[in-house]
Amino acid sequence: MNRDKFSITRPDDWHLHLRDRAALATSVPHSARCFRRAIVMPNLKPPVTSVAAAGEYRERIVQAIPPGGSFEPLMTLYLTDNLPVSEIDLAAREPWLAAVKYYPAGATTNSESGVTAIEKVYPVLARMEEADLPLLLHGEVNDAEIDIFDREAVFIDRILQPLRERFPRLRIVLEHITTREAAQYVTEAPAPIGATITAHHLLYHRSDMLAGGIRPHLYCLPILKRDIHREALRAAATSGNPRFFLGTDSAPHAVTDKETACGCAGIYTAPSALELYAEVFEEEQALDRLEAFAAFHGADFYGMERNSSRVELVREDWTASERFAFSDDEVVPIRAGEKIRWKFAGTGS
Ligand code: NCD
Ligand code: ZN
Repeated sequence: MNRDKFSITRPDDWHLHLRDRAALATSVPHSARCFRRAIVMPNLKPPVTSVAAAGEYRERIVQAIPPGGSFEPLMTLYLTDNLPVSEIDLAAREPWLAAVKYYPAGATTNSESGVTAIEKVYPVLARMEEADLPLLLHGEVNDAEIDIFDREAVFIDRILQPLRERFPRLRIVLEHITTREAAQYVTEAPAPIGATITAHHLLYHRSDMLAGGIRPHLYCLPILKRDIHREALRAAATSGNPRFFLGTDSAPHAVTDKETACGCAGIYTAPSALELYAEVFEEEQALDRLEAFAAFHGADFYGMERNSSRVELVREDWTASERFAFSDDEVVPIRAGEKIRWKFAGTGS
């Protein structure tokens, strides 16, 4: 592989927050520039809890795609204690409705309407298993007595393992994994299970966020962990194991909501996500495995066709923007004002 320039099959983003309305004018072009498809998270205010609402939201996203773009939003339903089983039947009929997202109530941004006790949604999960509609997990418990750095590992023991025993055929994605425990669980568990890994959890660990000053733009959930976990995630992402695939969890927040006494969780990575993954894979001497992680494994897991067009990346330093307009505010992207080593050079057939 030529190390100064290479092309891969056009990738997909299997975990993305686009927000809504005016914010879409910023978020959609940043993702659509290089990703062909994206699984769009439903944690709006109010959350997307019906197929009808997901269809309307999808239409607003499509309106924000720049002319000539070929970006396909795949929508998700937000699982609440009260989601009717009949909604699963409706969802299973729509090719653009890809999955149902589980948030433990209160665990992260706009998760107040999430599930309060997993037993409450057993009938819905049973129907999803029958219909082969994937369940996407925000894999953290939300218990005040569990330390924030342990919430993912505890989720695996308390929620995920019993869930898989009860619904062994339910297709599950453990989203944005952050720990050695999660990487190991997904590697060893019986199928069907997969996991998304973000660029920021491959690049940074908790000292990057907290040592020498607090960096609110590196604060996300699940929170950055110790470096040993980042190492385990790098090993998983570059292993070639088809259970691990790209999901940016790009999650824009207005700068005034980030730089404040109680800042929101979420890192805006879409403007440079693919380039940052390339940086990680190069550091791991695994650039030849980037294509499968970014463009094959997720499509295969979801039973969708792999993309046929390609994208090109060149080795060229560029400086990330300091800010972008964002509704009536601004958003600060990852690496704002700092150097990025790879540059996206366009899509082609
Ligand atoms: C996400 C958001 O802002 O919507 N935030 C984050 O830190 N990742 C929600 C989520 O995926 O947890
Ligand atoms: Zn997310």
